[in-house]
Amino acid sequence: MKLNQIMIITSSLLIFSSCQKDNDNNTGDNNIVDINQVDPNGNGNINNNSMVTLGKLLFWDPILSGEKDVACATCHHPDFGYSDGRELPIGVGGEGLGPARIDAVNDNISLAGRNSPTIINTIFNGISPNGNFDPATAPMFWDNRVKSLETQALGPLLSFVEMRGHAFGEAVALDSIVNRLQNIGEYNTLFTDAFGNNNSITSSNIGAAIAAFERTIIATDSPFDQFQAGNQNALTQAQIRGMDRFEDIGCNNCHSGPMFSDFEIHVVGVPDNNLLANSDEGANGTYAFRTPTLRNLEETGPYFHNGVGGNLQQTIQFYITARNFARGNNGGGQGGGGNGQGGGLNINPNVDRNDIADDVRDLQNFNNNDIQDIIAFIKALDDPGFDRTIPTTVPSGLNPGGNID
Ligand code: HEC
Ligand code: HEC
Repeated sequence: MKLNQIMIITSSLLIFSSCQKDNDNNTGDNNIVDINQVDPNGNGNINNNSMVTLGKLLFWDPILSGEKDVACATCHHPDFGYSDGRELPIGVGGEGLGPARIDAVNDNISLAGRNSPTIINTIFNGISPNGNFDPATAPMFWDNRVKSLETQALGPLLSFVEMRGHAFGEAVALDSIVNRLQNIGEYNTLFTDAFGNNNSITSSNIGAAIAAFERTIIATDSPFDQFQAGNQNALTQAQIRGMDRFEDIGCNNCHSGPMFSDFEIHVVGVPDNNLLANSDEGANGTYAFRTPTLRNLEETGPYFHNGVGGNLQQTIQFYITARNFARGNNGGGQGGGGNGQGGGLNINPNVDRNDIADDVRDLQNFNNNDIQDIIAFIKALDDPGFDRTIPTTVPSGLNPGGNID
């Protein structure tokens, strides 16, 4: 009799606690818009098929680089999730692709200063939790210093390290590239098709066409998206646990919205990469960097603005160190060393504990089990089904992607 009563109480407690859990699970996705309900071509996006066709060829054509050896795709390649799989990219004078790429030419041109971010889903840069985004003001780069894909696309052409090299000075770079394209018959036809009139080979149209192509590289059919659309079986138990922990711990205070980024800059305290001679001071010398998307991380590592996060374990573990440091108990070393996967990252010595973002200081305590579940959840944000096609030829006749073979 007594035992029976206890059993009834216990089982109703169990039901209660499992209801709680279900409610919890739902809060994770209810406040984020389903990205597949957002119209990519809404919000005044300029986009037509001829522009996309042209933009894709420009993206792959090393004719845009000073020494005709580097294309956008050299550092944003589909084999590496439209990133390059390296801590820091090698642009001008490099040979090969991804981690195997080497600085082949003795040209005093060294590594680029930051990790190459993916261009997948950059159409959505700046998107709000309720799905609003504006192509004209979309923030670009690790420090948000440029707005819009159109403007961004001209940046690498001017960059000495990334694409320009010794071939021409910065002031004449764009004119020189326009001039080259004007001398290629196929580009004249393609620009006329895309922009509707002759003499439309201009630097701003180069940017517009590349941006139109980039906006077609979308990956929004991850297991998480399927789960959000109502398929309860799309996520594993570990992924659901990870989704809950991600939220309870407070990761989603910055990794928010449908791209799991608020697109704001924050001081997290990531250490400098020793491969670089100078410290990277981030946005306006504040050591703040933009929250990156957490989609498609499976293919876009290594992580952080300079690639020092060798894998997800090491990257997420860094937040334990950063949180403890921000709270003033940096002696604990909970995040330091000993995980057998590249060791722990230390806080950047140029960052004061008071400078660390409140959202990092306020993270709930978490342990290695949580990290495993969060990693499982982050893998549920991967959609490998994005456009991976590579043009077989480009109008210049050069190798698509530059010297990457
Ligand atoms: C040598 C490697 C390299 C080449 C070549 C290169 N990029 Fe990048 N790209 C980078 C790096 C590194 C960054 C981040 C730089 C920063 O944050 O300061 C970046 C940033 C970007 C971003 C911003 C993404 C975001 O979410 O903020 C876009 C878009 C982009 N590149 C497109 C292009 C296009 C288009 C080209 C060709 C015109 C190109 N890249 C050429 C390495 C490269
Ligand atoms: C204060 C806002 C904030 C909070 C809270 C936060 N992050 Fe971040 N996250 C960032 C910023 C900013 C970066 C980039 C830092 C850098 O590169 O210097 C980043 C980078 C990352 C990266 C690397 C992604 C890439 O492509 O390089 C991962 C993974 C990540 N965060 C996961 C998490 C997890 C898991 C949590 C919770 C434990 C969390 N973040 C909490 C802002 C935040």
